[in-house]
Amino acid sequence: MTMVMDEIQSRESRHVLQTYRRQPVTFVRGEGVRLYDTEGQEYLDLLSGIGVASLGHAHPGLAKAIADQAKTLLHTSNLFFHPLQGQVAERLATLSGLPRAFFCNSGAEAVEACLKFARRYWYTRGEPRSEFIALEGSFHGRTFGALSVTSDEHYRAPFAPLLADVRWVPANDPAALLAAVSDQTAAIIAEGIQGEGGVRPLTPAFAAAITEASARTGALIVADEIQCGLGRTGQPFYFATLGIKPHLSSLGKAMGGGVPIGAALISEEVASTIAFGDHGSTYGGNLLACRAALVFLEALVEGGLLAHVARMGRFFEERLRALAARQPIVKEVRGAGLIWGLELTRDAAAVVPAALERRVVVNRTAETVVRLLPPLVITEADADIGLGRLEGALAAVAAGA
Ligand SMILES: Cc1ncc(COP(=O)(O)O)c(C=O)c1O
Repeated sequence: MTMVMDEIQSRESRHVLQTYRRQPVTFVRGEGVRLYDTEGQEYLDLLSGIGVASLGHAHPGLAKAIADQAKTLLHTSNLFFHPLQGQVAERLATLSGLPRAFFCNSGAEAVEACLKFARRYWYTRGEPRSEFIALEGSFHGRTFGALSVTSDEHYRAPFAPLLADVRWVPANDPAALLAAVSDQTAAIIAEGIQGEGGVRPLTPAFAAAITEASARTGALIVADEIQCGLGRTGQPFYFATLGIKPHLSSLGKAMGGGVPIGAALISEEVASTIAFGDHGSTYGGNLLACRAALVFLEALVEGGLLAHVARMGRFFEERLRALAARQPIVKEVRGAGLIWGLELTRDAAAVVPAALERRVVVNRTAETVVRLLPPLVITEADADIGLGRLEGALAAVAAGA
């Protein structure tokens, strides 16, 4: 790779739509939990491309499977059978208890599918319901439906009007939820841990209120597991940890290890109301994406990754609480498994470049939160290196350096 960073950045700034304010670094190669920039400098990756590079970078098994699949058959569309989609769906069913899957290419598309399927369920029953209950602090994606149940006004306002019939409830307020859900509610949508909202887990009491409201009114439950699901917390899905039994669940991010794939998981009760032609995707669940998902799911279950994440979760928690005790800029530590948020006493924006200077990749969310979503394969030794560098960055920001 010989292109210098200036050339790459100036070409982008002329021709790529400027919807992201990028950090001034260009990664060209990765290996495990390490990334390398145009100058060959090594960085410890505690973000994994926002929770996507679940197996780390350039994972040999994933790379081989993708290359083999490319040499065999990449795509045929959903007009035909292929041998891999059923295998991925079967594995997801075993892990989630939701027996059917619809495949798409991203998290937002998975949310769109869940919202459509929820309305279709009520329409098929002959008692149409259009209302969705969504939580303050939620993030479900940027397409019109997903954006309609995403709470941040900054994302929503320029694109109004969005879907009508969305009612907002403060997260972790069981009484407000119970008061809002009625026999007009098609579905309640929630992330078990609000990721973009600052790594905020739902409380068991709130989870119980979701179950109660659904049982009382028939409202479907949509668990958005795009960020906190598929092993990130050390459990296959966080809704099980919360004791929630969803009717629908949206998946994305970690599932393809970097190859785009999303899925909506669906209960039999809801699936039986969906007809041929109700929804679709040209690419969704193609051979390449499914081959990648199979490598990831095998690593998660047979490869012991779930147990590894659970162990690493305890390690991160201990290390992060000790770090917070040493660094008063850290007000609170929240998370589970390998999804963590450090709530700072101030805006976290300055931490990201300070961390990059010290060769560790993290991100800021919800303004005051430093978010960690490392590859699920991270070891204790590498976590110590990464957290050591992050602590240096936090101390420098606190000192105003
Ligand atoms: C919980 C949750 N839902 C949905 C999305 C949207 O996924 P995508 O960016 O793949 O469309 C995200 C992305 O951050 C997410 O964290």
